[in-house]
Amino acid sequence: MSHLHGYLAFPGFLDELKEELKFGGIKPKKMEIHGNLILVDGQKKKPVWAMNIWGSVERLKIESVADAIRKLKAMGLRWSHMPYLHHRRVELILKGLNVAASKAFHFPEDQLPTKALGSFVMIAPDEILASSHCSQTIPHGEMTFKEDKSVPPTRAYLKLWEIFTRLGVKPKSGDDCIDLGSCPGGWTWVLAKLGAQVVSIDRSEIDSKVLAMKGVRFIQGNAFSLDPTQFEKMDWVFSDVICEPQKLLELVQKWLAQFPNANFICSVKFKGDTDFRVMNAFIRIPGSSLVHLNCNKHEVTWVRLAAQAIEP
Ligand SMILES: C[S@@+](CC[C@H](N)C(=O)[O-])C[C@H]1O[C@@H](n2cnc3c(N)ncnc32)[C@H](O)[C@@H]1O
Repeated sequence: MSHLHGYLAFPGFLDELKEELKFGGIKPKKMEIHGNLILVDGQKKKPVWAMNIWGSVERLKIESVADAIRKLKAMGLRWSHMPYLHHRRVELILKGLNVAASKAFHFPEDQLPTKALGSFVMIAPDEILASSHCSQTIPHGEMTFKEDKSVPPTRAYLKLWEIFTRLGVKPKSGDDCIDLGSCPGGWTWVLAKLGAQVVSIDRSEIDSKVLAMKGVRFIQGNAFSLDPTQFEKMDWVFSDVICEPQKLLELVQKWLAQFPNANFICSVKFKGDTDFRVMNAFIRIPGSSLVHLNCNKHEVTWVRLAAQAIEP
């Protein structure tokens, strides 16, 4: 089996991924880059800025379209293709393969497929890089949803839909949730729709339709001044508040000290450069992980599930 691994960067975050792999001990001159795919010798723990990991990448020398189809078919059942070079030639190859179609998920019914999915890219007319051991079971890990364009006041709700779908865990009806920095109310809307009891706090006003939902209590004020000890029970702590990552870390620690058995989902937002030091501080919190979601811009999502450490 090949020792070559491919790390596919989220669009716009190739530099972050390079930096992350560099911190992981890989010298830049040892990285072979094709589009957003970085090939390195050896496997690394899942980098935050990689949307898919191609395990054991094979270099296939191909003589013809038919030869490419034969070799790819011999490696795996279903394929997704990373668009890069030689598009017309690739189109012909795709006609001969079982290709996985991208589909929009329904929330909360749809789950991630469990069947393995291979990925390939053509880097020269006679050379393909292919992996049948990818970390993602949907093409490139790109998760899109059938959106609700009528009620949620912002598309930020898609972050929660994605993380809940990836984790396979979400608040149950009656769970107590706090939503810090909640306006205009997309996250509160998701939580209330799931039947949770939501205390929602922001300096701005929340959307009136969200405010009217069953289970929603809104506090207009500063999320950092809210005292966690005033709550008897909290099952989930959410934060999408815009602030310095270091300030969020302190906020999270305060809530964690009061509710060590709560689940946490918090956006860590970067202004300017990505702060790898603070990312490491979040990752060091036991049982937690950091993930970059498809709808995260220059931010990552910190997740800590009380019951077990589930890698999103
Ligand atoms: C990205 S928006 C949150 C979007 C929200 N999750 C949604 O789905 O609608 C960030 C929010 O943080 C709020 N915010 C920033 N600093 C705050 C503070 N100190 N206390 C409370 N809210 C704050 C802003 O008013 C803003 O509404």
